[in-house]
Amino acid sequence: MRIVMVGAGYVGLVSAASFADFGHDVVCVDHDAARVAALQAGEIPIYEPGLSELVVANVEAGRLVFTTSLKDAMQDAAVVFLAVGTPSRRGDGHADLSFVYKAARDIAATIDGFVVVATKSTVPVGTGDEVERLIRDLRPDADFAVVSNPEFLREGAAIGDFKRPDRIVIGLEDDRALATMAEVYRPLYLNAAPILYTGRRNAELIKYAANAFLAMKVTFINEIADLCEALGADVKEVARGVGLDGRIGPKFLHAGPGYGGSCFPKDTAALAKAAQDAASPLRLVETTIAVNETRKRGMARKVIAACGGSVRGRTIAILGLTFKPNTDDMREAPALSVIQALQDAGARVRAHDPHGMEAARPLLNDVEFGASPYDIAEGADAIVIVTEWDAFRALDFDRLAKLMRSPVLVDLRNIYPPAEVVERGFAYSGVGRTVDASRPGIGAAHR
Ligand SMILES: NC(=O)c1ccc[n+]([C@@H]2O[C@H](COP(=O)([O-])OP(=O)(O)OC[C@H]3O[C@@H](n4cnc5c(N)ncnc54)[C@H](O)[C@@H]3O)[C@@H](O)[C@H]2O)c1
Repeated sequence: MRIVMVGAGYVGLVSAASFADFGHDVVCVDHDAARVAALQAGEIPIYEPGLSELVVANVEAGRLVFTTSLKDAMQDAAVVFLAVGTPSRRGDGHADLSFVYKAARDIAATIDGFVVVATKSTVPVGTGDEVERLIRDLRPDADFAVVSNPEFLREGAAIGDFKRPDRIVIGLEDDRALATMAEVYRPLYLNAAPILYTGRRNAELIKYAANAFLAMKVTFINEIADLCEALGADVKEVARGVGLDGRIGPKFLHAGPGYGGSCFPKDTAALAKAAQDAASPLRLVETTIAVNETRKRGMARKVIAACGGSVRGRTIAILGLTFKPNTDDMREAPALSVIQALQDAGARVRAHDPHGMEAARPLLNDVEFGASPYDIAEGADAIVIVTEWDAFRALDFDRLAKLMRSPVLVDLRNIYPPAEVVERGFAYSGVGRTVDASRPGIGAAHR
């Protein structure tokens, strides 16, 4: 089966390589000539565990090629996926659909025989209708069907998510498209991935509703964390007790510095805007956005408090810049807000990230980058863990204490047991927990 993937970003590249790995013939098209040239030379423009190996293996097997020519790619294609960006439209927060519509127009010009146009990009309800109208207007003779096939992969675990998804959602209005999409995902039947066939508009909304729910869940536990601090409780214990309820579940109940990334911020904003336009506002989502926005910058106050009330002239070492571990994606990363707020308060900032420094460099001013946590700890007044990379989970506190001017740890991801850090002579502050509240209780022996 010949598949065309338009867009060689996080989603397009992972989807293209995974479909090729299933045995399909995949042509991945991007209008960014430099990106395509790099891919043709075997260089992967993003960091995603396992992606480089998967791309190289499938290129070598002759199942995956990269090109800038949509026209060539579309010959004999059974399905063309749209995996182009849908960022926030500047000024109003609606999804910017210009890349989707441009790609749809380009596709219209190339259709020759029945083809399925499947949207993987996250798009507002009704976008499929508009894509169909656009193509129909340009090519009244074309034989095609527009399908919504939203993508749920997580950066950092993208290949596993793509190959073993919780579910595949396919929104369509056409039987021939159903046969094509069933063939595309047939290799996944072995993994018993549930496929939900539904209407196109339903599929479009499922993606936004799922992301908004997860963003809300994270924000909920973040607010509970603040309450824990006020009342002397430990949010890790509270989240554990709450998450053991099967109706709630333990995932996305980790308190931290606020969500960021390429999806939650823009998708919650786009959903809230679409809901307002439909005169059916989503107040929970609107509040989630507002709470999260103030939270990210507010984390700097925690650092300032840990440094005794001022960071003016102090050196702060930031561990982790990317919005989450195992990616180099810096889009809307909380580290950006935390660093800016610390600089505004007069701090000198040093930073280290295992894979994100190259992407972070153009987004940050006056930050000194270091090759390791120990590199940036030298002479620092505090270390702040912003992203929970594995490499930060077993820090040598004795070595750090010798290097730092004062042994202060601000653990914005709660990865260390406070009492342990304090035993090593550090002052500890986390999110939603105090050293006392986190001491093992009566039940600890039974865990
Ligand atoms: N990144 C994620 O984790 C994730 C997860 C699920 C869904 N999504 C959604 O998937 C979509 C893509 O996200 P991404 O993170 O992969 O974006 P991205 O910015 O990493 O990649 C988009 C790519 O599309 C290319 N492109 C844009 N217009 C084009 C055109 N007309 N022709 C050819 N190439 C074109 C760009 O050059 C770029 O390489 C978005 O709608 C996003 O919301 C993203």
